[in-house]
Amino acid sequence: MLNEELFVFLQLKRVDNMNKVIIVTGASSGFGKAIAERLAEHGHRVYGICRREMSHNKINYRQGDIRDTERIGQIAKEIFEKEGRIDVLINNAGMGLGGALELTSWEEIKLQMETNFYGCVNVCQKVLPYMRQKRSGKIINFSSIAGIEGIPYQGFYSCSKFAIEGFSETLAAEVKRFGITVSLVEPGDFATGFTAVRVNSEATLKDPDYGPVFARVRERFEKEEIGGLKPEYMAKKVEQIVDAKRPRLRYCVANLEQKLSVILKRIIPGNWNVAILRSYYGS
Ligand SMILES: NC(=O)c1ccc[n+]([C@@H]2O[C@H](COP(=O)([O-])OP(=O)(O)OC[C@H]3O[C@@H](n4cnc5c(N)ncnc54)[C@H](OP(=O)(O)O)[C@@H]3O)[C@@H](O)[C@H]2O)c1
Repeated sequence: MLNEELFVFLQLKRVDNMNKVIIVTGASSGFGKAIAERLAEHGHRVYGICRREMSHNKINYRQGDIRDTERIGQIAKEIFEKEGRIDVLINNAGMGLGGALELTSWEEIKLQMETNFYGCVNVCQKVLPYMRQKRSGKIINFSSIAGIEGIPYQGFYSCSKFAIEGFSETLAAEVKRFGITVSLVEPGDFATGFTAVRVNSEATLKDPDYGPVFARVRERFEKEEIGGLKPEYMAKKVEQIVDAKRPRLRYCVANLEQKLSVILKRIIPGNWNVAILRSYYGS
């Protein structure tokens, strides 16, 4: 009898885990695509948001720019009205910007912050009312190791991810009372579409002082990204967060060397860390 009850309990738990309504932003490439495909394959109802036109037999794609408050509001409303709930939001969409802080133009800075930070805030603000109404939900925001360490010549990218770190930590403290959890994913280097679409500061490329250093540093970080881990590895990790009963605030998903660099940064004096970063990247 006890075995039978345990069997029913496990089956119910399995159904509960398999039927989540999940939004994944940036689901047309890299992490987002791999995550959306894995979760949809495993029985979840997945909605992918991206600017490109996409179609997939198991993923419900919605075309939209995460910076567009009206469009994202429409998509969230439509999903909630159709499904009756939004269980998980995976804020993954983002892009990179390379260049010297001194020379990066306002237009380039705005593109970076509007996409990575304001975009993430926009999607959270549009989805949170539905989660709050249900008194449950899980938000997973994509940061980066660059959100823990200021990476030379990816300064405004780091700023956008530091902003996501602060936003998510605070949000976690504000929405816990409504049954909503917030987690940060901090990836190291991964081979995705990210490297090819990175925007590089025009003025830095042309500058006689910064230009040659940027070329050297860029070669280093691009090589590491291209030779990095595969997005399918990330998808497996994110699925574990989706399934977790009590998700942690932070998940650093990286190779051992990068994980150690994060631990080191938290214990050594700041100047030592800057010296390590300078010597590592050759800046
Ligand atoms: N790859 C890495 O090494 C690495 C490391 C640390 C953190 N990350 C972070 O991981 C996340 C995913 O990056 P990825 O590596 O998978 O890069 P990716 O292959 O270039 O994918 C980026 C995704 O974001 C979407 N996107 C970009 N701007 C958007 C916008 N304004 N509105 C809607 N969607 C937008 C793109 O879709 P559309 O172009 O179709 O809109 C694409 O699906 C980013 O937040 C990135 O910062 C990546």
